[in-house]
Amino acid sequence: MSKDVSIPGSGFHRGPALRMKDALESARKATGALNAAYWIVEKVTGYDRSGIMLRGQTVLPASQSGLLYTLLARIEAGEPLQYVLGTWGFRGLDIHCDRRALIPRPETEQVVDVALEELSKIPGDDLLVADLGTGSGAIALAIAVEGGSKVDGRVLKVVATDISRDALELAAENLEYTVGNRPEIAGMVIFRQGSWYDALDRGDRGRLSMIVSNPPYLSRSQWVSLDPIVLEYEPKVALVGGEDGLECLRVLIGGAIQWLSENGCMVLEIDPLQEEAVVEMAVKVGFGRVLILDDLCGRPRVCVAERHSL
Ligand SMILES: C[S@@+](CC[C@H](N)C(=O)[O-])C[C@H]1O[C@@H](n2cnc3c(N)ncnc32)[C@H](O)[C@@H]1O
Repeated sequence: MSKDVSIPGSGFHRGPALRMKDALESARKATGALNAAYWIVEKVTGYDRSGIMLRGQTVLPASQSGLLYTLLARIEAGEPLQYVLGTWGFRGLDIHCDRRALIPRPETEQVVDVALEELSKIPGDDLLVADLGTGSGAIALAIAVEGGSKVDGRVLKVVATDISRDALELAAENLEYTVGNRPEIAGMVIFRQGSWYDALDRGDRGRLSMIVSNPPYLSRSQWVSLDPIVLEYEPKVALVGGEDGLECLRVLIGGAIQWLSENGCMVLEIDPLQEEAVVEMAVKVGFGRVLILDDLCGRPRVCVAERHSL
């Protein structure tokens, strides 16, 4: 006989007859938000929001109530919603997420906006973009999908790198999935493993139109005081930029000029506290124009460094 099991706090009770509306209510209690509850029930049942609303009294098959139980238990254990759902939206793309890589953040969607805008200004027939520290592949894929229309028929290629083999595996899965829905990006994105510029082909030195990166930029002390949900589940290698948070940014900015083409530019996500240090580094290595843009909360977040004012 199967044993009934309850999830503390969620009101969720594993039993034979779980109606859709009870499933939704259990998910709402476990996640603390109605939107999140719908996403969970959508994943479990395959119905969209209106389908769920229309079927309040429908009893879920045992396989679905079992899956719901498993997902809610993961939420109750403190796992991020994005990992539990397995996909997360990034600029209209469904990005597969799990513990192999950082969950793509809204600030990073803005980095892509800035990168696309800059890319449209760079002259030349072929555009080569390096997304260094690609993680789930979110930036590289968004640039490939959206960049096509921004660059007026010019050839756009993206090389996406990471030091983490796990992250690259996830990014490759995301590429395959995205190409399934957007076949026009087939062949536009390639992956390379290695530390920052070491991952790139030497032949691309001086040829990159753009270097874009959301590198690990938290200091060790910022990292230890993170929300436990981030600390425990998201990879440390994706978050910590050495003792002062600037270690990766030093390498990226320090090496950029020799990899960028004459009119190339660098777009970096930074911590708001790093504004001054990053501008100083970029000016010192010889960028012609350096500016910092705010995120949607008004905090300095994106550094744009152009070799020559475009
Ligand atoms: C903040 S995450 C960004 C992930 C993804 N680009 C995004 O925006 O969601 C930083 C990424 O840099 C990678 N990374 C850390 N150290 C690296 C290194 N030395 N060389 C290349 N990538 C590195 C991490 O594995 C991680 O995927």
